[in-house]
Amino acid sequence: MKLLILNGPNLNMLGIREPEHYGKTTYNDLVNLIDNHANEKGISCETYQTNSEGGLVDKIQQAYFDKVDGIVINPGAYTHTSIAILDAVKSVQIPCVEVHISKVEEREEFRQTSYIRLACVKTITGQGVNGYLQAIDFLINYLNNGRSEA
Ligand code: DQA
Repeated sequence: MKLLILNGPNLNMLGIREPEHYGKTTYNDLVNLIDNHANEKGISCETYQTNSEGGLVDKIQQAYFDKVDGIVINPGAYTHTSIAILDAVKSVQIPCVEVHISKVEEREEFRQTSYIRLACVKTITGQGVNGYLQAIDFLINYLNNGRSEA
């Protein structure tokens, strides 16, 4: 099983940016946590971060040609603005889980819209970086059990 873990703008600043919302774990720590988790589960996980909207679209399209089985995505602020990223996920038809480190539903009004959610099989918010590991576990289960656990 091959998963892609995508992070959008400013998530490379984890550990530095607004720790009251995003915690103290750095982006490198997050990559290590994901690598260890993937090893334990015996799956392949690529992690990728970009600050650009087009970079996220390109990577999602590439996932189709690379035969990626599932995508975990935290599009950062593009969650709330990007129809292009939504359309990319719809184009490739790869099961996708939306992750937010903070509890977005308890934050500002402008964070209450999520375009990507319309193309996701699950959303995880407010679990800190552990949310990425929960999303990986969800996808393993979802992909192994005939996609019945949405
Ligand atoms: C975020 C929430 C977004 O509203 C914000 O723009 C981010 C991070 C989160 O992980 O909680 O960049 O996606």
